[in-house]
Amino acid sequence: MFLGVNIDHVATLRNARGGAEPDPIHAAQICEECGVSSITTHLREDRRHIKDKDVRSLVKILKTNLNLEMAVTDEMQKIALELKPHSVCLVPEKREEVTTEGGLDVKGQLSKITKFVSPLVDAGILVSLFIDPTEEQVIASSKTGAQFIELHTGHYSLVYGTLEEDEAFNHLKDSAELAQNLGLRVNAGHGLNYHNVSRMHEIDGLYELNIGHSIISKAVFTGLDSAVNEMMRLVK
Ligand code: PXP
Repeated sequence: MFLGVNIDHVATLRNARGGAEPDPIHAAQICEECGVSSITTHLREDRRHIKDKDVRSLVKILKTNLNLEMAVTDEMQKIALELKPHSVCLVPEKREEVTTEGGLDVKGQLSKITKFVSPLVDAGILVSLFIDPTEEQVIASSKTGAQFIELHTGHYSLVYGTLEEDEAFNHLKDSAELAQNLGLRVNAGHGLNYHNVSRMHEIDGLYELNIGHSIISKAVFTGLDSAVNEMMRLVK
């Protein structure tokens, strides 16, 4: 199983001050040096974290795979066809949400999504659909021409450690098995952390996990002592 790291949270911090630090491109390079299989970034319609210039820099600089998360819009399709990332992950997007809240309704928009996927696949881009772990969304996804799904682990993460955990986990496991039987490759992500990630090993054939918030959160504390010590030296 591979790890893709989502660097959007670094851009959120940078944008809070409107300057250049911390630089999400530098963060991507550190992840790359660690040997991650991909860098994930979500170019949102409102550009609240990652900006167009960041994606352009990542396309130029990265040696590892770039996974571009994006909404199903003409603007995003045009950008993907121009920049040709290794893969795109199609996600639903609502302006008012804090983060991607639910999966893409592939079943309800089957013809729109199938039409959207086709030019991307023709351009050699791998296409993944971020969906809730339900039988109907998996079956619909298998009809679109996309090669991957990414199972939304948000609910599993939320109920991890409660009586609802097993049920949420079984939805992920059953969906992954069905998807693979239908010829799809399966990624997973959202809300995974240093505790709940271990059960992902119980799902056969999972290809890649996309994780952002817990990694960047941990990095704040694993790096804080050296950052303070360096400044103390300068201040003393
Ligand atoms: N996968 C998708 C499709 C996402 O939208 C996100 C959040 O941007 C993630 C994975 C990573 O989620 P988290 O930041 O909670 O690890």
